[in-house]
Amino acid sequence: MAQSFDVVVIGAGPAGYIAAIRCAQLGLKTACVEEWKNRAGKLALGGTCLNVGCIPSKALLESSEQYEHAAKELGSHGITVSGASIDVGKMLARKDAIVAKMTGGIELLFRKNKITWLKGHGRLAGHGDPWKVEATGEGFAETVEAKHVVIATGSKARHLEGVPVDNEIVCDNVGALAFAQVPQRLGVIGAGVIGLELGSVWRRLGAKVTILEALPAFLGGADEGVAREAWKIFTEEQGLDIQLSVKIGKVESGKKGVVVQYEHEGAAKRLECDRLVVSVGRIPNTDGLGAEKIGLKIDPRGFVEVDDHCRTSLPDVFAIGDVVRGPMLAHKGEEEGVMVAELIAGQKAHVNLDTIPWVIYTAPEIAWVGRTEQQLKAAETPYRAGQFPFSINGRALGQGDTRGFVKMLAHAKTDEILGVHIINTHASELIAEAVVAMEFRASSEDIARVVHAHPSLSEVMHEAALAVDKRALNM
Ligand code: FAD
Ligand code: NAI
Repeated sequence: MAQSFDVVVIGAGPAGYIAAIRCAQLGLKTACVEEWKNRAGKLALGGTCLNVGCIPSKALLESSEQYEHAAKELGSHGITVSGASIDVGKMLARKDAIVAKMTGGIELLFRKNKITWLKGHGRLAGHGDPWKVEATGEGFAETVEAKHVVIATGSKARHLEGVPVDNEIVCDNVGALAFAQVPQRLGVIGAGVIGLELGSVWRRLGAKVTILEALPAFLGGADEGVAREAWKIFTEEQGLDIQLSVKIGKVESGKKGVVVQYEHEGAAKRLECDRLVVSVGRIPNTDGLGAEKIGLKIDPRGFVEVDDHCRTSLPDVFAIGDVVRGPMLAHKGEEEGVMVAELIAGQKAHVNLDTIPWVIYTAPEIAWVGRTEQQLKAAETPYRAGQFPFSINGRALGQGDTRGFVKMLAHAKTDEILGVHIINTHASELIAEAVVAMEFRASSEDIARVVHAHPSLSEVMHEAALAVDKRALNM
């Protein structure tokens, strides 16, 4: 007889594994189908985020930043470091150990919560009440019954036509996280989040990095003021060669390297590099899910269609994470996972997509929540802006990193905070205060009246809030 579950989750990335855990916590009998195999051929939980995304990229960002600090930045503290060198093999092994610890941790959590891991490919195989989900793996095929199905099949890298990715010479995120040596010349197509983060990693370790971007604007999703500051730091101070408004032509790759032909400012150009990273966005993954057969609605861009509660066009079938609309971010998928589990258990739940923070883990980091100044202008929303730099903050001076600022945008009439934008080494941590404030619909005056520890970087948030009302104290 077929095994029967209250919930079957397809995909164990951050959206799916969190959904499974929350379902199990709520007393629902839960299974999760996952087929991911790591480079060693071992099945692994955790999805893109833990295996080839957030976690490994942040490990390499940290290692490369530590190297750059040791090699170039400790002098001002009176510390002399000579002969700093990087052992790329060791750096990659450290990253792999972190990934193994994290993915192994999810296995432990599955066991602790009595979640059945169906090790294979999941496909919606039969309509109705209950749903039938087929899981097929090596030497293993099982069809199980499910009262509810949660689709959490994530996304995959978008590739360019005529540019085959072998993940050795021409790479997407998978290969770019595992170069065995530092390439002398690294080409990157796409100056988005992955291009900037992974471009930074290999630049810090010594690569000459050229990033080719199709759009005329740099970091079009970020606040223009922040994007301008980031452009100055990345190109002038750090030496990333970022070229905007390019049109990629023929890309030829051989064993030794790649030649990219492209158009830039009306001129034909070519870029020769040892490795090329293609980071031009990600696409939702519904491969082999059986969506068409079962009548699951997919929108024209390939996302599973859902409502605000992540309900699909089919009864008792939910979809969450990168495979549905909204930002492709791990924490957004996780919150949707919690929401659908609670809805299935009969509770009330929601996710507020307006307060999802964005972070780009460059140095300095860039983080924001809510609206940008250009969005407010376009929507003709009346607002006041307060901005305060880190250059006159005592803690930042002590830390030796005074780059960037906090910008707060608040409604001109109600003073409700509409957006907060930060560029600073610790922006990923600082943004949390703004997210909490906006979730509670705080005003800039609320933040202005909250006590912030001294000396701390958070005082810059405080001063930016005061600056909204033109009463910053330390400037
Ligand atoms: P995924 O993590 O893609 O997981 C989907 C899972 O479903 C996979 O394990 C896949 O094997 C499985 N699957 C798919 N189809 C089937 C099937 N039919 N049967 C069985 N299993 C199936 N986000 C952040 O918030 N912060 C970051 O710092 C960050 N850094 C990133 C860095 C890189 C290099 C990349 C590529 C992404 C990064 N992201 C980051 C984005 C983040 O990884 C994704 O938003 C997140 O992983 C999406 O989670 P998910 O669960 O929806 O999908
Ligand atoms: P992205 O959407 O951030 O950037 C892609 C860039 O490529 C854009 O600037 C786009 O204009 C450009 N582009 C597209 N087609 C092009 C072409 N033909 N030629 C030149 N440029 C072209 O996508 P990216 O960097 O691939 O990352 C995918 C997603 O993964 C992100 O959007 C984000 O959701 C997630 N991610 C999140 C991270 C974080 O939270 N820190 C880190 C890395 C990824």
